Amino acid sequence: MLPIVTLYDNLPWSIRAATPIVFILGTISFCHRIFHFNFLEFLGCSYSVALSFALIYQLTAFLYRNWVGVALGYNTDLKKLGSWAVVTGCTAGIGEAYAHGLAKRGMNVVLIARSQEKLDKVEREIRELYNVQTKVIIVDFTEGMEIYDGIEEGLKDLEIGTLINNVAMSYPFPEYFVDLPHGRKFYRDMLNCNMMSVTMMTSIVLPGMIQRKKGVVVNVGSLSSMMDTPFMSLYGSTKAFVDKFTMDLALEHKEHGIFFQSLIPGYVVSNMSKVRKSHFFVPTPEAFVEKALQAVGLQRRTALWLPHQILHACIHIGQFFRRDGAAEVSMVIGKQFWIYGKKVMFYRSKSG
Ligand SMILES: NC(=O)c1ccc[n+]([C@@H]2O[C@H](COP(=O)([O-])OP(=O)(O)OC[C@H]3O[C@@H](n4cnc5c(N)ncnc54)[C@H](OP(=O)(O)O)[C@@H]3O)[C@@H](O)[C@H]2O)c1
Repeated sequence: MLPIVTLYDNLPWSIRAATPIVFILGTISFCHRIFHFNFLEFLGCSYSVALSFALIYQLTAFLYRNWVGVALGYNTDLKKLGSWAVVTGCTAGIGEAYAHGLAKRGMNVVLIARSQEKLDKVEREIRELYNVQTKVIIVDFTEGMEIYDGIEEGLKDLEIGTLINNVAMSYPFPEYFVDLPHGRKFYRDMLNCNMMSVTMMTSIVLPGMIQRKKGVVVNVGSLSSMMDTPFMSLYGSTKAFVDKFTMDLALEHKEHGIFFQSLIPGYVVSNMSKVRKSHFFVPTPEAFVEKALQAVGLQRRTALWLPHQILHACIHIGQFFRRDGAAEVSMVIGKQFWIYGKKVMFYRSKSG
């Protein structure tokens, strides 16, 4: 097969361009002679067959990635990649659930966040519950490049098999870009926390993984990166960066045995989402992370939680058929959230 592909690649572009056309015309003429199909019948049949194959493929892949692959044990055993895992933003929500989930699987965990008190609490809990080692690094990711020398020093000599780039900040409430409180400082903090952290943490951990030819990097993005997010424009854009960066790195390092995963969840119960109770559409961080850890090695870019995956597919289909319509729907929803935010702030200021 390979020599044929190589030979084809080395043909002049005009012959390469003509090949599929000649193939299609040849097939039409063949079908016409043998089955007496005319051109339109041939086109209709081919389209139906291609569509059926595509649907069957998508369904099989969906079942495999979500359940069958996990049941057959084709997902990644993280412990085999290295004894240490690193989690950024691990004192609450999804990050805390990751720290527990990884420790539960017998991995030593480096806990990175900004509050000593919260870090001590998480470290204590993990040590009491699981028989693993922990290491704490205190940093505020809104700060610039200067924090990364300290992190690099802290991670030196550890065999890191898993990196969870989870830390991020969002808007206090949906807002016009120019009206964001403390404008420039807020822009800088968000870019540092949501994008610089992912870039720099990856740059620190990746060389060791490349050397050992194994590793997993999970970058926690958001479904907001897949849709229009008016009034959350900067947050959505930073998450679009996270997704693109992850997918491109995945291609770059395919041959190095490193698995990059781009998580694009919808709402999960947490301080950031301000959703307090879980239900069918909004999982707890623990339930979400359990599913995420099972999906490593099987799902590369994923909204993960089934209702979120369905929502992602609907967004995709909506954008494919009516790009402007999808944007208008996002604008209506965004404006409602903006109004809601203003009301909440008004009542808060009234109640002192
Ligand atoms: N929750 C959702 O609905 C949702 C949806 C889509 C994507 N996500 C993504 O999931 C990830 C985790 O979100 P979450 O909802 O779990 O957030 P969260 O509950 O607010 O937790 C964020 C964690 O990051 C830490 N952190 C925040 N800013 C930091 C900073 N500047 N320096 C160091 N640590 C900092 C927090 O520490 P403190 O406790 O000290 O603040 C906390 O441990 C984020 O990347 C987010 O964008 C969340």
